[in-house]
Amino acid sequence: MTRHFYCTAGAGMEELLAKEVQHKLCATQVEQIPGRVFFCCNADLYTVTQLKSAERLFLLLHKAEPISLPKNPAKAAAVIKQRVVGDPDIWKQTLLTWTALQEELQCSQQRGHKRRREDEEESLTVADESTHTLTSSTHLIKRQNEMDKSCQHTPSFRVCCRCSGVIARSYTSQRLSRIIGMAIKEHLGWKVDLREPVLEVNVYLSDDHCVAGIPLLKHPLASRSYMKHNGLRSTIAWAMTSLCPKQLNDCVILDPMCGVGAVLLEAAQEYSNAVFLGMDTDTSQLQKATENLKASGMEGRVQLLRSSAMEIPLANGVVDAVLCDVPFGRKFSCSSDMSTALPHLLREMERVIRVGGHLVLLLSLQLSAQLKKTICTHKHDQHLNSSDTNNAHTDPSSTHNDSTATPKTLTFNKSNSETSKTPLLLSSLQAQRTHKVSLGSTDAFIHTYTKIQTQAHSH
Ligand SMILES: C[S@@+](CC[C@H](N)C(=O)[O-])C[C@H]1O[C@@H](n2cnc3c(N)ncnc32)[C@H](O)[C@@H]1O
Repeated sequence: MTRHFYCTAGAGMEELLAKEVQHKLCATQVEQIPGRVFFCCNADLYTVTQLKSAERLFLLLHKAEPISLPKNPAKAAAVIKQRVVGDPDIWKQTLLTWTALQEELQCSQQRGHKRRREDEEESLTVADESTHTLTSSTHLIKRQNEMDKSCQHTPSFRVCCRCSGVIARSYTSQRLSRIIGMAIKEHLGWKVDLREPVLEVNVYLSDDHCVAGIPLLKHPLASRSYMKHNGLRSTIAWAMTSLCPKQLNDCVILDPMCGVGAVLLEAAQEYSNAVFLGMDTDTSQLQKATENLKASGMEGRVQLLRSSAMEIPLANGVVDAVLCDVPFGRKFSCSSDMSTALPHLLREMERVIRVGGHLVLLLSLQLSAQLKKTICTHKHDQHLNSSDTNNAHTDPSSTHNDSTATPKTLTFNKSNSETSKTPLLLSSLQAQRTHKVSLGSTDAFIHTYTKIQTQAHSH
């Protein structure tokens, strides 16, 4: 049965979420607006809850043209009743769908518990994925019982309204929530309960949109239960994997500044048969990464190593992709100034990537500007030094030879002699895409590069 959903998404994530629902859920009627993506699909709810780029998941109640409200409260209430609540039959039908989906969640959670018990009995360490985003069973059972008893047609509810633009100049969110609540009560006979409602009706009113929906899960999809220690926001970590120009199956993937491992974890979930390696200079970060890997059942798939990204103990060209969230800001201030260290850091990352491999970097605005300058400067210098620059670059897809084939295992170099001998080859990094995302208090940029064959490689 086709259901109408929408998800909220961080700024810059809408396009990735729209693609994700199309790709993973075969969703139709996909529409994105700032902060939200609407879609229809008939995938089972467990599959929908596995979306990686979304913040929260809602069942759509109503979507209409933006409204403007008269100042007179009685007239405003009439407009709300007509334009925000709309057709009561649709709300009743959506309530039935929501109830059915809660049952589906409960069943999939029970299946998860049963499987976990069986796994524990067999002493296996496979993580129980189905507990990732589902609400606690006691909570669900309690809520379900409440529903069964008296709430099938007249559930208790509260309204949570967010507004912006013109409407926000005349009405506070709280006042709008009250007016909408009264309209729902009158129109549908549902019971207001501000403390422990069965339903939370979310309404979003802006200059461009009027949207109402019911959240399907208590927790945001973006809070991964397998992250015991939080690092980079999981949706952004996933975006770095997803923006990599190629699929990363059968690949060796390195995060040379892995912190608590958010990027590696998201990539490892996406690519089940890749090899992952994480490095960091900070042992406490590595300890947290180890705990995160254990909690997610991924510890066998990711190797961690205490090492500096400035001297990566790997041979040239052994890695298929480097994904790196380069530190900036106070949270991860490092001993060396990152903008001074960036050219050397880039050179090390470029060195270990094979020709045809990829580099994905998350950088601050300032480091992004520096990255472009660094790569341009090196390209310019190499252009001046090269006698035949026009023939130096070749298509990465045509660069297959034994030395660039994907390795299945990694050997660490005890000495880093290769590092110091490596010439600056930043001209081999061909820019693919820059994507702006929001980290909440600040914006950042995801840059993707592909390493191409240059004259220096072929010598
Ligand atoms: C922005 S954080 C990475 C956060 C990570 N994505 C996470 O989810 O936790 C940057 C990390 O780089 C590490 N770091 C700083 N300088 C380093 C260096 N020279 N080599 C390796 N790691 C370094 C810090 O210890 C920190 O854990």
